[in-house]
Amino acid sequence: DCMTSRNIIKLPGFIDVHVHVREPGATYKEDFASCTAAALAGGITMICAMPNTNPPVIDRASYDYASALARVSARCDYALFMGASSSNFDTVSEVAPQAAALKMYLNQTFSTLTLDDMTIWQKHLQNWPKKMPVCAHAEREKTGAVILMASLLDRPIHICHVARKEEILIIKSAKERGLKVTCEVCPHHLFLSTSDIDDIGQGRAEVRPVLCSPEELWKNIDIIDVFATDHAPHSVQEKNSEKPPPGFPGLETILPLLLNAVHEGRLTLEDLINKFHRNPRKIFNLPEQPNTYVEVDMDYEWTIPQAMEFSKSKWTPFAGMQVCGAVHRVTLRGEIAYVEGQVLVPPGFGQNVRDWPTPKNIPYY
Ligand code: DOR
Ligand code: ZN
Ligand code: ZN
Ligand code: ZN
Repeated sequence: DCMTSRNIIKLPGFIDVHVHVREPGATYKEDFASCTAAALAGGITMICAMPNTNPPVIDRASYDYASALARVSARCDYALFMGASSSNFDTVSEVAPQAAALKMYLNQTFSTLTLDDMTIWQKHLQNWPKKMPVCAHAEREKTGAVILMASLLDRPIHICHVARKEEILIIKSAKERGLKVTCEVCPHHLFLSTSDIDDIGQGRAEVRPVLCSPEELWKNIDIIDVFATDHAPHSVQEKNSEKPPPGFPGLETILPLLLNAVHEGRLTLEDLINKFHRNPRKIFNLPEQPNTYVEVDMDYEWTIPQAMEFSKSKWTPFAGMQVCGAVHRVTLRGEIAYVEGQVLVPPGFGQNVRDWPTPKNIPYY
């Protein structure tokens, strides 16, 4: 059981490869300054920002625009995704060296970038550099379809936010065959289920993939390469409205929830460091951040409140959950970036890690 004394341990800076920052285009939901403050408060020192912004990040001009905003506003380090559209397959790879990776949306969700035509997927999978990942929002039978297509083209594919039994099992089979597939799982699919929808509220509980049942994910925890939030902030008014947009904030709660799973013996600290630091670095070829670490109090017990401090989305689906484990202090490139509820680094402290020297590729497969 938890002691009331402190039990501080030092962990590496965590890397969240799936974050919707909302800047440009919807800064009332979130912006780089608030999003990266939330990241640091959550023990995350590097984020990969999703491209479904307004305008979407799909070419050199929109990349330059988003990266100029990030440069002056981000407090933690970051890389930016490029989005695959129905028309940019011949040009988007020009920005590949500056990008986190390419994102393909294969299902309807909160995005204007959905690709319905499989011949377009094929062009993107062919043209994006093979040494860089393509990440797919690919639910249900789309999981198998995109893994097959990537495998026919002999290129790596990363499956975002795996939630269902059918998705994790096809990934397991593909891995057993030696295919170059990796996958991520979000805290809301590990720690919430269909049976929580009533408590959260129908509208607020909207998320893609939907909440389902986490048993099969836990059974196959060894198949999961990466933990990522899919931090998808929307305003409380929007979440309470007639047509609630899908998505949950997650940056400030992911690490406490995972530390609590360690506390309960469902995960090891090695699992946590592998899936939330080492594997993201290897899969996305991200650099090590020098002099960067997170001190957590393994024994601090607290109840997740109605809303966390730093994200603009003033609600959380995890409200009321009791967890053991909290972020105490975050050091980013030698600076104390967060301590005891205070974010201490200003907008502009964060750097685009693709401006850093390319790290020597750490082989993942
Ligand atoms: O729930 C979701 N929200 N799923 C997605 O795929 C997109 C995200 C968002 O951007 O709001
Ligand atoms: Zn305890
Ligand atoms: Zn998605
Ligand atoms: Zn997402």
